[in-house]
Amino acid sequence: MNILIIGSGGREHALAWKIKQSSKCNKLYIAPGNAGTALEGENVALDVKNNQAVVDFAKEKDIGLVVVAPDDYLAQGMVDALTAAGVPAFGPTKAAAKLEWSKAFAKDFMKRHGIPSATSETFSSYDKALAYMLVQKLPVVIKADGLALGKGVVIAQTHEEAEETLKSFMQDGRFGESSRVVVIEEFLEGIEVSIHAFCDGTSAKLFPVSRDHKRIGEGNTGPNTGGMGVIAPVQVPEGFLDEVKEKIVMPVIQRMAGEGVPFKGILYPGLIVTEEGPKVIEFNARFGDPECETYMRLLESDLVDVLLACVEGTLAESDIRWSNMSAVTVVLASKGYPEVYEKGLAIHSLESVSDDSVVVFHAGTKKEGEQVLTNGGRVLAVSAVGATAEEAKMHAFKAAEIIQFEGKHYRTDIGAFWGI
Ligand code: AMP
Ligand code: GLY
Repeated sequence: MNILIIGSGGREHALAWKIKQSSKCNKLYIAPGNAGTALEGENVALDVKNNQAVVDFAKEKDIGLVVVAPDDYLAQGMVDALTAAGVPAFGPTKAAAKLEWSKAFAKDFMKRHGIPSATSETFSSYDKALAYMLVQKLPVVIKADGLALGKGVVIAQTHEEAEETLKSFMQDGRFGESSRVVVIEEFLEGIEVSIHAFCDGTSAKLFPVSRDHKRIGEGNTGPNTGGMGVIAPVQVPEGFLDEVKEKIVMPVIQRMAGEGVPFKGILYPGLIVTEEGPKVIEFNARFGDPECETYMRLLESDLVDVLLACVEGTLAESDIRWSNMSAVTVVLASKGYPEVYEKGLAIHSLESVSDDSVVVFHAGTKKEGEQVLTNGGRVLAVSAVGATAEEAKMHAFKAAEIIQFEGKHYRTDIGAFWGI
């Protein structure tokens, strides 16, 4: 069948790389794609902000499956539009993706259904938010309700910093309508992990546990980013995944279905493993990036079969196989990311990476003639597998060293620790 992937990051390159290996995949399109996805299929300059343009293209090219990867297109209702037009689409509907695009909705949902999460309150009144915040323990976590490019969470160490944040979110509209409503949340102590589950509306299959490294700097310092590197699997105590499935993932699947909004696609809860057990800090309704790059190196099953099972509601019958190797992804970022950075810098020595255990996924890149140029904050996701975590890291860092572009920055402590 012909397949279309929506998006242009490292996640989409990894999906294209994996989908291309499926015997079910005939023609593969990526919209808008990047220099890496062009190696796997055909990039198309579709107006992806326009659902109808995507529907029209899917009809014209006889697409049998559209994979909507990024959060903003899910929130835009792309899956709804495709489904209504009779085009099979992988991903949650706009209403189901609300678990990600409204933190207030997600918190309310968790409270109503007893899903373990940080204590919190939601505010649309600045004065009430301020009064509540001033009597909370420090640090205190302030979250913009809506999507904010991964920048809508502030962990304030002082009440002054928290007050500044509330002002800028609620009064100055730092993220427009996304930050007029805020969630004020208890800071959770513990180790952070990423959970992913394939979901078909009634059942769920969990991936091995992974860990992202969200801050820009070594030792988890500096501002938050989209994610600087991932290791999987994270070693977890026996029964951990069963507990997460029973207390978090299945209640979401069952309650969403019960409320008439079945969740299909990837459910990605971010967790903090506290002394009282795992607690949710956020829900994402899509593959993480660079979690996806890492997972695609470990997934042995045919991805197209699994995605179709999610769309068709037959996931319970699928047998999903994962490699028993370890995988590590190291992100090479532009100087200045996650703030201001330059684009259009030449990338050298990509072809010098000849290690079979490494795949270099493109994130923010574009091609000009024969030259690959930087075109984003996160430029490349260097992904390696190994028999052990140490071996995977060794391969990933060697390749990260070889590739060159001006201002290249990466964390050398990705996967330094892979337990909980
Ligand atoms: P989010 O955008 O919700 O993923 O939040 C960004 C980062 O802030 C997370 O990856 C965590 O490291 C941190 N964070 C969010 N909520 C909390 C919390 N309640 N307690 C501690 N850390 C948090
Ligand atoms: N890597 C974190 C995210 O995709 O949200």
